[in-house]
Amino acid sequence: MSKAITPLIVGNWKMNGLIEQLGEIDNLDYELSKVEKITCSVVICPPATLLMKAALSKRHSKIAFGGQDCHSEEKGAHTGDISAKMLFDAGAQFVIVGHSERRVDHNESNEIVTQKAKAALLSGLTPIICVGESEDERKQGRALEVVLEQLTSSTPDDIGNGIVIAYEPVWAIGTGLIPTLDDIDEMHNMIRAELIKQHGKKGAKIPILYGGSMKPSNAKEILILENVNGGLVGGASLKASDFFQIISACS
Ligand code: PGA
Repeated sequence: MSKAITPLIVGNWKMNGLIEQLGEIDNLDYELSKVEKITCSVVICPPATLLMKAALSKRHSKIAFGGQDCHSEEKGAHTGDISAKMLFDAGAQFVIVGHSERRVDHNESNEIVTQKAKAALLSGLTPIICVGESEDERKQGRALEVVLEQLTSSTPDDIGNGIVIAYEPVWAIGTGLIPTLDDIDEMHNMIRAELIKQHGKKGAKIPILYGGSMKPSNAKEILILENVNGGLVGGASLKASDFFQIISACS
C-alpha cells in the first residue's frame, strides 16, 4: 500500500487482560523485531492497570501505547477517573475518546468527547476520536448524516499536533459483521472531505481508521481503500498472532 499517511494499527483491549496478558505484547514485540521495516505504526491500548508496566518494558520497541479513555480535567475530585496527563505520565502517546461503548455505558455526549479530546491534546497525547452509526441509523439510510454530525461536534476546532478519527459502525463492533467495502469507502471519503473542509491541509493528513470486526481475514481488503489509514482492532488485538497478521496486511 502506498499512501501519503503512514497507516496506524491500534489494538483496543477494552476491559480485558490481567498481568499474564502482557505476554502477548512480548510475543508481538518478538514478531515485529524480526521484520526489518514495518510499514505502519502500532499502538496497543491496554487496560489502565497494565499501561505503565507495558509502556516501560517496551519503551525501546516498535510498539506505542495508549489509554482507552480520559477525563476532561487535568486533576481533581473525580473518584475513579484518569486524566490525560496521568496517561501521558504512565507512558501513553495516544488515548481513545468517544468509543461507542463509553458513549452508551457512560452517556458521553459529543460535547464531553470534544472536551476529552482537547484535554488529550493539551497533555501531549493524540486523541483517537471515535464516531459511528447504530444499526437502526444505518437501516434508515442515515449513516452518513449521523457520522457527519458526530464528527463535527466531537472534534475540537484546534487540532494542535494532530488527531486520529476512528469510524466504527456500532453494529459491527464485536459482531463479526462489517459494512460492504463500498459503504466503508463512501464513509471514509465523506470523513476525509469534511476534515479537509474543517482543517484544510492538516485535515488531509489526519489518519482515518476503520474499526469493527477487523480481523486477519478481512484486514487487507479494508486497509487498501484510499481513505482508510489503519484500523482500530478490538477482539483480534488480544492475540499477538492475529494482531501481527493485521499489521502485516498494511504492506
Ligand atoms: P472489535 O472492536 O474489533 O472487537 O469489533 C473494535 C472496537 O470496539 O474498537
